[in-house]
Amino acid sequence: MGQLQRLGALGEMSSMIAHELNQPLAGIRNYASGIVRRLRNGHAEPTPLLQASEEIEQLAARAAATVQRVRSLSQRRVHARAPVGLQTLLEHSLAAFRAALPPDQMLTVQCDAVPDLILDVDSLQIEQVLLNLLRNGLDAMRDVPPEQRELRIACKATTEGLCVAVIDRGAGLGALPPERLFEPFFTTKQDGVGLGLAICKRVIEAHGGNIEARSNAPGPGLTVAFTLPRESAEAAASREEAAHA
Ligand SMILES: Nc1ncnc2c1ncn2[C@@H]1O[C@H](COP(=O)(O)OP(=O)(O)OP(=O)(O)O)[C@@H](O)[C@H]1O
Ligand SMILES: [Mg+2]
Repeated sequence: MGQLQRLGALGEMSSMIAHELNQPLAGIRNYASGIVRRLRNGHAEPTPLLQASEEIEQLAARAAATVQRVRSLSQRRVHARAPVGLQTLLEHSLAAFRAALPPDQMLTVQCDAVPDLILDVDSLQIEQVLLNLLRNGLDAMRDVPPEQRELRIACKATTEGLCVAVIDRGAGLGALPPERLFEPFFTTKQDGVGLGLAICKRVIEAHGGNIEARSNAPGPGLTVAFTLPRESAEAAASREEAAHA
């Protein structure tokens, strides 16, 4: 990365952090001032002090989670590429997704036949992408009757490599231009940070692929699809070599 580009990225990152941390920090300051005021005035009843302290705890946790996510967003480079089977990668992502669901969550997750492919990727990062997409799909079906909530994963081998789509039956895009979804901090959710898809885009582009969203036709719902390039001939050859060594 050139010096100018680096400065640009730094500026972008700093404004993201500033933007997103301002709110919890202001909240923490207000609650802390309230506590100080009460203690100074001799109003030391435990209940309101406890409530304010709990609010501070939550705001600090949210700020920490944001820092964590901005940090992973700034990792444009792929750190740990290694050969991994597509099937394994999908299984890991689905297991992590299911583990985080509340036990009474009604949801059908379908996975179409998976092509027998080896990918040369940072598997943790790609699993994170899939998790973000599945999570968004589920969020989008909040107002859909539970028995109709359905997520589908469709994978297709192409001449360039692989295309993976996560398809939901949720609220869809409405009048939103699809590229807005990938802007950092764009969110329509009350508790959303708006970094999920921005992170997905960074990760996929760092792997040489691309990601896009499109409304399902016929609806309802949205499809978010990403591509990954085919494992290079050299990478495949050195893998074969290592396997036979
Ligand atoms: N499957 C989907 N269906 C409809 N809208 C979606 C879908 N996925 C994303 N969106 C829209 O794009 C916005 C941005 O998504 P993104 O994942 O970046 O952030 P988020 O889910 O709001 O917050 P978080 O940072 O916690 O992921 C969402 O708030 C939502 O409005
Ligand atoms: Mg999200």
